Amino acid sequence: MIDSVSKVFHDKFSAEPLIVRSPGRVNIIGEHTDYNEGFVLPAAIDKAIYVAISKRNDDVIKLYAVDFKEDFQCTISTIQYSEQHWPNYIIGIVDQLKKKGIEITGFNAVIDGDVPVGAGLSSSAALECAVGFALNELFDLKLSRLDLVKMAQKSENEFVGLQCGIMDMFASMFGKNEHAIRLDCRSLEYEYEPLQLGNLKILLLNTNIKHSLSSSEYNVRRQQCEQGVAWVKEYHPNVKSLRDVTATMLDEFVLPKDKLIYKRCRFVVDEIERLLQACVHLQQNDIKSLGEKMFRTHDGLSKEYEVSCKELDFLVDAVRNNPAVTGARMMGGGFGGCTINLVQADAIDGLIAQLSPLYHQATGLNLTAYVAQIENGTSIVQ
Ligand code: GLA
Repeated sequence: MIDSVSKVFHDKFSAEPLIVRSPGRVNIIGEHTDYNEGFVLPAAIDKAIYVAISKRNDDVIKLYAVDFKEDFQCTISTIQYSEQHWPNYIIGIVDQLKKKGIEITGFNAVIDGDVPVGAGLSSSAALECAVGFALNELFDLKLSRLDLVKMAQKSENEFVGLQCGIMDMFASMFGKNEHAIRLDCRSLEYEYEPLQLGNLKILLLNTNIKHSLSSSEYNVRRQQCEQGVAWVKEYHPNVKSLRDVTATMLDEFVLPKDKLIYKRCRFVVDEIERLLQACVHLQQNDIKSLGEKMFRTHDGLSKEYEVSCKELDFLVDAVRNNPAVTGARMMGGGFGGCTINLVQADAIDGLIAQLSPLYHQATGLNLTAYVAQIENGTSIVQ
């Protein structure tokens, strides 16, 4: 990948680029908790976005996306949302720099990668982190990794328009080989948890579907959580987010007002607790209990938070009673993308062979599968 992105860059721009790699992510458990100031447990994977980049002397930005075989061009002074969509993840970062009063010149960049787009593996966060890291290096901006993570999230919130939390960017930037990151999304303190899975591997099963609901419903879930917090706050003024809310508070102050809001908030409050217990299981090497929690998370996401879909439910239900599968659930924002499965290494090929025709029969879609290795976060590779 490094050689190919470098060659495309040479062919297009006849210059020697800086190349930055930024990975996609999985999340072991802790879903829809980041924007509620809870905890998450993501890890960076061996699928990544590569950005090859070099400075220009004017204020022109010239981009080429290998995957889409598309060019894009604009100037720094006239940046605006592009209908081409993919350039927004890049120029949104430049927009953030401008808002911070940081000046840069134009640049040429080629983007390539092997994170499947729309699979819920955060290819967009990986791209934003790669671009931020590359510009920081190229123009010696002296921003920290955390600054870059926050900038990437803001760019997605303000420029792309998805009110996402901080998990995906944090995982891409701070990932560590063979470790998950237990991130406190309130304080942004984090610890690396060794991912000792024994003979189990992380198998991702891609539904190959992304329902159009994913971004609109995501923003609706955020508002529903905020509504629940506002009702509790009337009686407990110190409460700032669902992180501070207990199940009893929800029973008392939210359930009488609105059953749907209650269901949403209840899932989040339970999920924050589940993650903390799951971390203890991980530390005690009790992967069986961790796996049970993953199934429970799926059920909550499907029935209470209602961000699953029939394709994801099908894949989780199909492995639920399989002795080679210790845990499985939908992963990420929902309405498509992948399930994450903890599967015995020697059973993986058989499982894929068994599931593929069943999935096709049930949904008319092809199933794709990846075994995810846990890797380091964003770095310069050339
Ligand atoms: C998406 C968002 C994240 C997070 C997850 C759900 O991946 O980008 O911030 O909220 O959904 O856990």
